[in-house]
Amino acid sequence: MVRQVTCTAPVNIAVIKYWGKRDTSLILPTNSSLSVTLSQDDLHSRTTVGIAPEWSNESDRMWLNGTESAIATNARLVNCLKMSRAQRKALEDADSGLPRWSQWGIRIVSENNFPTAAGLASSASGYACLVYTLAQVFELPLTGADLSRNARLGSGSACRSIFGGFVGWDMGQSPTGDDSQAYQVAPETHWPDLEALILVVSDLKKGVSSTAGMQTTVETSSLAQHRFQAIVPKRMRQMEQAILAKDFDTFAEITMRDSNQFHATCLDTFPPIFYLNDTSRLIIQVVTAINCLSGRTQAAYTFDAGPNAVIYAPKAHMPYLIQLFAYFFPGSAGSGYFSDSYQCLPEGTV
Ligand code: PMV
Repeated sequence: MVRQVTCTAPVNIAVIKYWGKRDTSLILPTNSSLSVTLSQDDLHSRTTVGIAPEWSNESDRMWLNGTESAIATNARLVNCLKMSRAQRKALEDADSGLPRWSQWGIRIVSENNFPTAAGLASSASGYACLVYTLAQVFELPLTGADLSRNARLGSGSACRSIFGGFVGWDMGQSPTGDDSQAYQVAPETHWPDLEALILVVSDLKKGVSSTAGMQTTVETSSLAQHRFQAIVPKRMRQMEQAILAKDFDTFAEITMRDSNQFHATCLDTFPPIFYLNDTSRLIIQVVTAINCLSGRTQAAYTFDAGPNAVIYAPKAHMPYLIQLFAYFFPGSAGSGYFSDSYQCLPEGTV
């Protein structure tokens, strides 16, 4: 007898970046962060969890994108499974009439409809989907905040994919992580005019994992310490206000500044970490130029731990932006050229 549930979860792309842990096993961050959850129709993970009594005496097993992937050596995955089983067991202990699903073996099949571990937030959608599906299969009566803390044990950014729309992750203060969870700033219906365009520069797996990269940054970058203390708390407040007011200019400026500063802390890490490549920098120049030349903010770029760009822009700007990127980057990545010697002209000239 197999009990089985399938769910999907979307990716989220941070506009104020999380980069650094104060507790590596509970995944407690060194700063709060804020992201936009993309639509389920776009980049998503799809996970099926099956539980069965006949698997009880075997190890749990998982297949990721069609290939079996070891569970026992993945501490974060083990933590997610342990937490969900413990939550189920607490229900069973409180009510002896409930089936003992916590003792059954688990099988997981998960796939992403986009490149995995290429800096496109696959761990965010993957772990959010896993803990949500486990909660469904075990019939756990969890709130969004509870699910968010479960997802955080798999991957920090996953705690934000539990909610749709505009989502903050409060870093919290407690050493146990009880207050380190995501919250919805505004629902997905709040700002339908805002769209995201993903420019896939490379679909290769990133060279430095975010886990390894962020710890070296915390240990070696003095810029990161300044960012945690002096920059992010203020930016979180400004960004929440900009979102609530649908103020694209402020949203865009903070998004681009925060992406720049995150990558600056990577460069300030010793030894340095480079996630952007020449094509990424060219994309930054194109966006900067069109904003500057047209005298108003047409678009905002942001880059996670990889060279791929996410462009946020009002819907009306998208057809023009897509044409522009197709012009500068025809065919394969890196074939475009853009001079940085443009001049800023008065409004309306582009
Ligand atoms: O959750 P992780 O370990 O994949 O780290 C994500 C880090 C960034 O994507 C670079 C920033 C963020 O806030 O999502």
